[in-house]
Amino acid sequence: MATVMDTKTSFLVILVHCSLSFATIICVFTYARGNPNVLCREREREALITFKQGIIDPSNLLSSWIGEECCMWEGIGCDNITGHVNQLNLRNPYDPNNNAYESYVQSRLGGLISDSLLELKHLHYLDLSWNNFGGYHIPSFFGYLRNLRYLNLSYAGFVGGSPHQLANLSNLHYLGIGGLSLQVDSLEWLSHLSMLEFLDMSMVNLSEASNWLQVMNMLPSLSELRLSYCNLDKYDPIPRVNFSSLTVLDLSNNWFSNSTFDWLHSLASLVTLDLSRNHIQVSLTDVVQNMSCLRNLYLSHNNFSSTVLNSLYNISTLERLDLAYNNIQGVLPSAIGSLSRLMHLVLSNNGFQGKIPRSFGNLCNLQHLDLSGNKLEGDLEFLGNSSACTTNNLELLDLSLNRLSDTLPDQLGKHTKLFFLSLKMNMLSGRIPVSIGNLSSLRRLFLSGNQLTGTIPISFGHLSNLEELDISNNFLKGFVYEVHFSNLTNLRTLVANSNLLTLQVSSNWVPPFQINHLAMGLWRLGPRFPAWLQSQKDLQFLYLWSASISDVIPSWFWSMCSQFIMLNLDQNQLRGSIPSLSCGGLINLGSNNFSGPLPSISSSVTYLDLSNNSFHGSLSPFVCDLKDRKTNLTILDLSNNLLSGELPHCWMNYSELLVLFLGSNKLTGNIPSSLGSLSALQLLSLNKNNLSGELPLSLQNCKDLEIVDLSENHLSGGLSIWLGNSSARLKVLVLRLNKFHGIIPWELCHFNSLQIMDLSHNKFFGSIPRCVGNLSAMVRQVYDTSTIAGYAKVFLIMKGAEYEYNKLLALVTSMDLSSNNLIGEIPEELTSLYGIRFLNLSYNQLHGKIPENISGMTFCVGDDSSLGPTPNADDDGSEDGGWIDMKWFYISIPLGFVVGFWGVVGPLAFSMAWRYAFFKFLDDMKYKLFNGV
Ligand SMILES: *[C@@H]1O[C@H](CO)[C@@H](O)[C@H](O)[C@H]1NC(C)=O
Ligand SMILES: *[C@@H]1O[C@H](CO)[C@@H](O)[C@H](O)[C@H]1NC(C)=O
Ligand SMILES: *[C@@H]1O[C@H](CO)[C@@H](O)[C@H](O)[C@H]1NC(C)=O
Ligand SMILES: *[C@@H]1O[C@H](CO)[C@@H](O)[C@H](O)[C@H]1NC(C)=O
Ligand SMILES: *[C@@H]1O[C@H](CO)[C@@H](O)[C@H](O)[C@H]1NC(C)=O
Ligand SMILES: *[C@@H]1O[C@H](CO)[C@@H](O)[C@H](O)[C@H]1NC(C)=O
Repeated sequence: MATVMDTKTSFLVILVHCSLSFATIICVFTYARGNPNVLCREREREALITFKQGIIDPSNLLSSWIGEECCMWEGIGCDNITGHVNQLNLRNPYDPNNNAYESYVQSRLGGLISDSLLELKHLHYLDLSWNNFGGYHIPSFFGYLRNLRYLNLSYAGFVGGSPHQLANLSNLHYLGIGGLSLQVDSLEWLSHLSMLEFLDMSMVNLSEASNWLQVMNMLPSLSELRLSYCNLDKYDPIPRVNFSSLTVLDLSNNWFSNSTFDWLHSLASLVTLDLSRNHIQVSLTDVVQNMSCLRNLYLSHNNFSSTVLNSLYNISTLERLDLAYNNIQGVLPSAIGSLSRLMHLVLSNNGFQGKIPRSFGNLCNLQHLDLSGNKLEGDLEFLGNSSACTTNNLELLDLSLNRLSDTLPDQLGKHTKLFFLSLKMNMLSGRIPVSIGNLSSLRRLFLSGNQLTGTIPISFGHLSNLEELDISNNFLKGFVYEVHFSNLTNLRTLVANSNLLTLQVSSNWVPPFQINHLAMGLWRLGPRFPAWLQSQKDLQFLYLWSASISDVIPSWFWSMCSQFIMLNLDQNQLRGSIPSLSCGGLINLGSNNFSGPLPSISSSVTYLDLSNNSFHGSLSPFVCDLKDRKTNLTILDLSNNLLSGELPHCWMNYSELLVLFLGSNKLTGNIPSSLGSLSALQLLSLNKNNLSGELPLSLQNCKDLEIVDLSENHLSGGLSIWLGNSSARLKVLVLRLNKFHGIIPWELCHFNSLQIMDLSHNKFFGSIPRCVGNLSAMVRQVYDTSTIAGYAKVFLIMKGAEYEYNKLLALVTSMDLSSNNLIGEIPEELTSLYGIRFLNLSYNQLHGKIPENISGMTFCVGDDSSLGPTPNADDDGSEDGGWIDMKWFYISIPLGFVVGFWGVVGPLAFSMAWRYAFFKFLDDMKYKLFNGV
């Protein structure tokens, strides 16, 4: 409440007329030339100064509190006749919810509130909201501020029990104590505030105040009641409703489920009813029948089904209706189309089916329509049906995540007020209409995940307000020219992966935008490295995977590297060596032709993928010569390069490392015992190197190991000691093609999470331990997928495909003991492994009959003969045996599994022929994975 000094001699006095209307307090501030004889009362001024002395004011908001005339001070209001201070408004001037969080935090007042305020005997307005009186109770002397009509302490940080002292403020009309950590055991004090019209107690825990409804019912003037996030789950019944002038009732974010809300039906004046985010499933038909004023009805995030809601679609007064996140099935009622006053309609995340009724086109006042996340199908005809309306008012249209097909109607272009349009994840086909260029207000446009074809219309270049565009995963093709971007000066995010697009711009093009997030995977950008990136100073997320770039990366790009959070240049033909990398965050430079020694990296890199290149030389400088002697690496993939020499000994500084891929290099020597200092390690892959010697005992320190692949080396020794103490979480153990020997240790049977065990092509002898029946992951067919899914998540986020992650499951269980020197009978116990998918015992000297129960195992694998104890006709004698029926893969593996499996377990878990077929099958899936689909 700033005041203005006119001249030195005369002054202005604030006049505040507050009218308490139904929904808000409307304060009109006017300035009038005051009586120069009326000066701030000295006692009141001194009281304010004393008050100020107790206050901590980090941003000096009370700097105007100097001089004689206290009525001019910031936040003070005086009576225009008597000069008595009657208002104190110290509300934080910044709104934390409105992009001003920093300023808000810095502007919070704190400290001790002096009881000198009692000197302000005429105070009727006190607002201390959004401050930081953290730790203090609501001062008890507030109970003596008898003239208060308005008291707002919301989010002021006060703590303590029930504020009983407020019971004495019988003149209160407005009380805001929302967002305070109060242990309210009783609400008795509230019942004395009989003049109360507004009450906001949101976020105050009322779970102990079982009589809350009775107490509210003793406040006959109550007009607005906000009890959101109050931990309410029930109410005690009231015989008669006497707060019938209620216009706003907010009971959202509580735990109501079976309450019938019968008392609501007397609230005939109700304008706004918010019951969202509860678990309500009872019918509200009777309840809302008499609400002839109802304009805003919020019922999202409950358990409503179609039947309990039918009558709602008849409330012709409705302007806002939100039924999102319920369980409503069936067709969209076309009756909604006659709710002609509707402005906001949100029916997202339900089970609505069928077409969008044409009658929706009659909703001329509609500004906000969200039908996303349903099963709607058919066309978008209703968009063209709005000819009845003189103006199209639609500002937000979200039809994403449905099954809409057909083409985008040309009439789309009529909705010139649209600023948000999302049609993503449907089955829309055809071309993007040229009329899209008429959507001059458009700021966010999402068309991804459809089957759109044709070229991108040049009219895109008109969308000068566009900030975010996602057209990824369509079949768009052709050239994209500079003109497509000509007026897109506000573009911050462009996601356009997975189309068939070619960028055709001049070599000195300077884009009109400063982009932050750029994803052009699978575009044809090359062969030269895109020079225009040099102008992009805000770029933080860059995905140019598989973009046909065949070039040496220019040095200016490496210098802008430090601005990136995410850099993905996977699957290009980039070449040359990489200088020391200044980028932090996530870096994927895999599957290129980079050569030379491994680059040194900054300590802020968390994910580094340099796999599938031609880096050569020793690992030691990279691993051991750390800047700052520390690293935040969690995932490191250097597989498939030409790295040679021994594994370095300095893994001590890699305490964050979760995943280490060093497979398919030319590493020699022993596995160093310092590898055991990777105490967080969950995945270790050293396959296909020339490592020799025994496993270091220190690996036992890696208590979180879940996936270990050491296959195709020359490792030797027994397993017993190592296995005895190693990670109980082991899920995947692949040791094939080594020189391990000894008996198959019974310790193995303790790994009840083990899903994949491949000990084939070693020198194990003895019999198969009978305890294999204890491998419960293989028995129950219940897989703990958390970690594997966790990796997959990281991978997919890295690849920009995070929403695919939910689909991921690692489902395979297998046991391969083939090509060893095992003897004896096949133990009966093996047949209890009902969950096992693959079993290979061939090339051993096992004998006896195949246990009778074996057909009870849930093989999908067709070829039973491969279970046989000796090599057989089906086994072609090749390295990998013939025990897998490839058809199984083509037919049975759910897609989601394939995606997850390929990215995580696939590359390390299985034998060659197997992998070959698998990868062939997955070849196009690979794109889906790596590319930010
Ligand atoms: C003083 O304020 C009261 C209301 O607070 C208003 O009714 C009255 O008109 C004002 N007087 C002058 C002189 O502005
Ligand atoms: C009370 O304070 C809170 C927080 O500043 C604010 O959101 C709310 O609108 C205030 N109430 C009134 C009626 O001014
Ligand atoms: C409230 O009012 C009662 C009776 O007038 C009085 O005895 C009591 O001290 C007051 N309490 C406070 C906190 O104002
Ligand atoms: C409101 O109704 C209740 C009965 O439900 C009654 O006990 C109470 O006195 C009433 N309060 C007022 C202020 O009318
Ligand atoms: C909705 O209103 C129509 C006409 O006013 C009426 O025929 C129909 O029964 C009503 N539906 C419900 C469920 O109340
Ligand atoms: C870009 O904007 C300018 C000025 O508003 C306009 O003259 C020009 O036609 C626009 N170009 C495109 C391609 O929309």
